[in-house]
Amino acid sequence: MSLTINIYYKGENGSAKEFAKEMIEKGIVEQIRKEKGNEKYEYFYPHDDLETVLLIDRWESSTALDLHHKSPMMMQIAKLRDKYNLKMKVEQYTEISKENHDFETVIRQRTATRKFSDKKVEIEKINKILEAARLAPTAKNLQPQKILVANTLESLNKLDKVTPCRYNAQTVLIVCSDKSIAWKKEDYSTYEMDACIVATHMMLEATNIGIDNIWIEMFDKEKLKEEFNLEDNIEPICLLLIGYKAADCKENPLHNKRKELSDLVKFI
Ligand SMILES: Cc1cc2nc3c(=O)[nH]c(=O)nc-3n(C[C@H](O)[C@H](O)[C@H](O)COP(=O)(O)O)c2cc1C
Repeated sequence: MSLTINIYYKGENGSAKEFAKEMIEKGIVEQIRKEKGNEKYEYFYPHDDLETVLLIDRWESSTALDLHHKSPMMMQIAKLRDKYNLKMKVEQYTEISKENHDFETVIRQRTATRKFSDKKVEIEKINKILEAARLAPTAKNLQPQKILVANTLESLNKLDKVTPCRYNAQTVLIVCSDKSIAWKKEDYSTYEMDACIVATHMMLEATNIGIDNIWIEMFDKEKLKEEFNLEDNIEPICLLLIGYKAADCKENPLHNKRKELSDLVKFI
């Protein structure tokens, strides 16, 4: 998933052009182009506006952009911007990269994220993830899933009372199942199984569209029901944290520790 940023620098008497010229002449532009994950860094001069210069930069991921924001270059850019007394208008676009739509890539890329940045997941992406929940298979197609989207400060604070594992995620999907709807077979119900499939669908769709995530089991279910006033028949099954990895998020050491197929499978 790559990110494109358009920045319109506006200044009087051609100062925006002077700024761009100095950025290029000082070699700052060249250095930024060499930063990890930079795909484009280009100044344009709109025909119809002599006071504005447009910078288009593109980054291969939000992590690369976060690193760029913390790089020493940013100080130099800020100084120059102040020197020329420029105003800025910023637009940001996210492109979902085509490669991620390959299922093989998705299942290999998915990994548990335990440190999220403050950046919020865009509503279109949350909706896309929720659509994957809607399309998930459930026993007898009874669709007992109920998903609570916690992304306000109030609901995140409530969640912090029920789990030690929020990891700064700014959006948490509380995956629940309605026991009164799910298929009951004698003394057994598929309510939990259905919700797990729903959560798995969302987890994989999140990875597919470049949203980092983790499945959380460690939370107090009774307390969560109380905090969010859930009815008796609504059972919270798991939390799915979604967001963007923090720049210093460490890799999950367990991720590559998978057993051999021969330990897991037996042809009979
Ligand atoms: C059912 C389930 C429950 C989990 N619960 C937690 C949890 O409560 N806290 C946590 O930090 N990670 C939790 N995880 C994440 C796992 O530890 C992680 O998926 C596992 O180590 C494999 O690593 P990977 O996801 O990076 O491949 C859970 C994962 C699953 C599937």
